[in-house]
Amino acid sequence: MPVIDKNISLLPFNTFHFDCLAGHFTIIQTEEDIHQIIQQGLLKDKQAIIVGGGSNILLTKDLPLHLIIKNEIKGIQVLQETPDDVLVEVGAGENWHEFVMHCIQYDWGGLENLSLIPGTVGAAPMQNIGAYGVEIKDCLAYVKAIDKESTEEKIFSKEQCNFGYRESIFKKEAKDQYIITRVGFRLSKTNHVFHVGYGAIQQVLSEMKINNLTLRAVSDAVISIRKSKLPDPAVLGNAGSFFKNPEISIEQYNQLQILFPNIPSFPINEYKIKVPAAWLIEQCGWKGKKVGNVGVHAHQALVLIHYGNGKGEDVLMLAKQIQQSVIDTFNITLQMEVNVI
Ligand code: EPU
Repeated sequence: MPVIDKNISLLPFNTFHFDCLAGHFTIIQTEEDIHQIIQQGLLKDKQAIIVGGGSNILLTKDLPLHLIIKNEIKGIQVLQETPDDVLVEVGAGENWHEFVMHCIQYDWGGLENLSLIPGTVGAAPMQNIGAYGVEIKDCLAYVKAIDKESTEEKIFSKEQCNFGYRESIFKKEAKDQYIITRVGFRLSKTNHVFHVGYGAIQQVLSEMKINNLTLRAVSDAVISIRKSKLPDPAVLGNAGSFFKNPEISIEQYNQLQILFPNIPSFPINEYKIKVPAAWLIEQCGWKGKKVGNVGVHAHQALVLIHYGNGKGEDVLMLAKQIQQSVIDTFNITLQMEVNVI
């Protein structure tokens, strides 16, 4: 039976570095650990929160009645291999970036654009992590999870995961119902498909004088771009993009373009357009702004920062002010990407 610790500081377990207290805390390393916790009735008595890398949560209060479960299920296992591709199953508690580096080392293609994203493998499908033109759904094969009520294992095919932009069944219909244990990926071994069309990737590759594309070169380019724009959570508390990029109707976009001719856009379909939240926030004057111990990152307006000695509530208050000014200026409601607890 996993040890249940009492009154533990969650400071090391959230990348915003907020010092909130968990009434109960435990680490799971195997599926058996999960079964035991469920059989002891612990998930029924207490509100349970599963954390991976803690890189997508904003803690705003102490949680005396909660059980925080840190998922540390490990393992990277090749299940099938052909000359062309590989099916690999990865424990939910593996560090995401370390797994991507493992893929680069073995020359398995598909996840290189997702280098340096903080967090764990198990948290990645929750919000269908994405960057530089690639989303995890592009090479995810399945998600294994344990039902918190029945303790049964369920395998979700990619289709059953209902992936959308930063969305999945685990954030919607099946919210709080499952503990993700392992994730399967199908990755290329030959004929890798490189995605270098997004933003500055091509430019960085040229600066790196790369003529022959390799997985490592793409990964290095992504790492270099991320390091130049996004703060390292180990140094500066943050949870990556705080808001989602909003989708608006073509009509609204056309109207906004009259007032703001430079408004950037990414087409989605014939009815909708995505606009970068970072641009909206920057236009409202928030970029680089500091409010007490929190603020908006100077190099990427979508990232909110905790400079230390602040509270999660301060970030939430800042986020609400930003939301309001974006509504006032553009009539667009920004949705939070980060999970507020
Ligand atoms: N922009 C600004 N001001 C800024 C930053 C960006 O105006 O301060 C505008 C520019 O027009 C730029 C556009 O926003 O061309 C897009 O910026 P960027 O490429 O940096 O991407 P993003 O849309 O702001 C998304 C993801 C990031 C991911 C990048 C790269 C979301 C919510 N965020 O950000 O994901 O790394 O694309 O693919 O979709 C995360 O989820 O934590 C995250 C960092």
